[in-house]
Amino acid sequence: MNAQSNAADLQIDDVTVMIFGASGDLTGRKLIPALFKLFKNGFLSDKCLIVGVARREKTDESFREEMKAELSEVISEETIEEHWNQFASMLHYSQTDLMNVEDYSTLKNQVETLEEQRGLPGHRVVYLATSSNLFLPSIQNLSDAGMVPREAKKLRCVVEKPFGHDLESSKELSTNLSQILNEDQIYRIDHYLGKETVQNILLFRFGNAIFEPLFNRNHIDHVQITVAESQGIEGGRGGYYDESGALRDVLQNHALQLLCLVAMEPPSLFEAEHIRDEKLKVLQTLKPGRQGSVDEWAVAGQYAASSIRGEKVKGYLDEDRIDADSRTETFVGIEAHIDNWRWAGVPFYLRTGKRMPARVTEIAIQFKLPPLHLFTTVECEGSLCESANAQHNSLIFRIQPHEAISISFSTKRPGMQYQVQPVDMDFEFGESFGIELPEAYERLLLDVMREDSTLFTRSDELEAAWKFVDPILQLWSGKNHRPELYPAGTWGPKGANQLLSRNGHYWRAPTGK
Ligand code: BG6
Repeated sequence: MNAQSNAADLQIDDVTVMIFGASGDLTGRKLIPALFKLFKNGFLSDKCLIVGVARREKTDESFREEMKAELSEVISEETIEEHWNQFASMLHYSQTDLMNVEDYSTLKNQVETLEEQRGLPGHRVVYLATSSNLFLPSIQNLSDAGMVPREAKKLRCVVEKPFGHDLESSKELSTNLSQILNEDQIYRIDHYLGKETVQNILLFRFGNAIFEPLFNRNHIDHVQITVAESQGIEGGRGGYYDESGALRDVLQNHALQLLCLVAMEPPSLFEAEHIRDEKLKVLQTLKPGRQGSVDEWAVAGQYAASSIRGEKVKGYLDEDRIDADSRTETFVGIEAHIDNWRWAGVPFYLRTGKRMPARVTEIAIQFKLPPLHLFTTVECEGSLCESANAQHNSLIFRIQPHEAISISFSTKRPGMQYQVQPVDMDFEFGESFGIELPEAYERLLLDVMREDSTLFTRSDELEAAWKFVDPILQLWSGKNHRPELYPAGTWGPKGANQLLSRNGHYWRAPTGK
């Protein structure tokens, strides 16, 4: 099914999207381009209204011009021009101080007037693209202004991460929000769930008969989940990141969600609550990979100055808006186990980091070795084969940069002897379907507009994820904890390798090809 062919069935023509934090990076870089593409592809009609809400002084015109400049970073001039006039007419701006309750009555008047002019019924989506300390006050103020009916059709609220900074604060935020909104009105976004390959994991597992019987402790040796980024701390994000660190920024949400999809049981129905129930069970049975202190199963790293391909690169401590003595981790690696019938004894290794050699996100399922080594002559090419583990069959879900599913297995090298050679069989999404894959935010925004919460995180899931990482946070916040340094442009600190090597495993070197 391509995007165009089902657009008519899914077209939304009666929604008002209000983006709180409209001056921020996320709005220009992700949300407006996603809304523009939804409009261009026929999913969003030009009756809909998009209102940017932020404190800075702007007119509708200047907001539109800024958004147009942002679009030109990711969309061709020709495409923008073709649709711009109609799209621009949907865009409006409201100067609102989100902390000031009085500003909300002006906002209310503005939105109601615009909706009346367009004949819109007042079915609204509020996207909180603000810093997390504004989530609750914004919703409280909206409610005080009479803009929060307790009905999902009339108001849905998208909450960006971080949803709290630990178990306690996440519970508190949930409790406070639940005084104002019903659970079915809250869409906790984890943009990884909107990525095409991530959605495909469930279809791959439960829509094919050949792989699922192998997804258990009898056949799988271990699983590796890597979310690696080559970039450091991007301009302006230092303040946020230094408070957050890799564990809160990526592992607690994106990486654990990937783990849930790979490890969960089939849902009894392909519906939001059934899928979330199964993901929750995985998180509830997630255990540290080793007994004893957190240091036994979790490793923190921080990148140090180095040079990458001949170019000097700053260390984390020299980045903009980072405390010169910061102990924040830019890398985290863990070993976890899932304590259930299917997965008992199978290590799940997760790692995420900034300033790694490549931007690549992948899940590698490493199968057990054959019971006998009949073919003793092993021909190895490249460093990957140097280890005795090189002959594990693997199934790779590559989430980025080029979405793909790949299977590696051994084959006989042509010739007069039995020489074993590992080869890859690749399925590339973009190449195979010949279409540009939709961005995660496109899919997720459309889902919020059509009230489908399947790809969003429920509060109990989120709490279970915090509960798992909380002991790590506690240890790492102690004065004596310091992350281990790793040179920028490498795969993280030595401790991360030791996590695996003590079990006779080693990290794959993902190519991101
Ligand atoms: C965000 C994190 O949630 O995900 C960022 O806050 C990170 O630090 C980003 O860079 C990675 O997303 P993607 O889609 O580029 O892999």
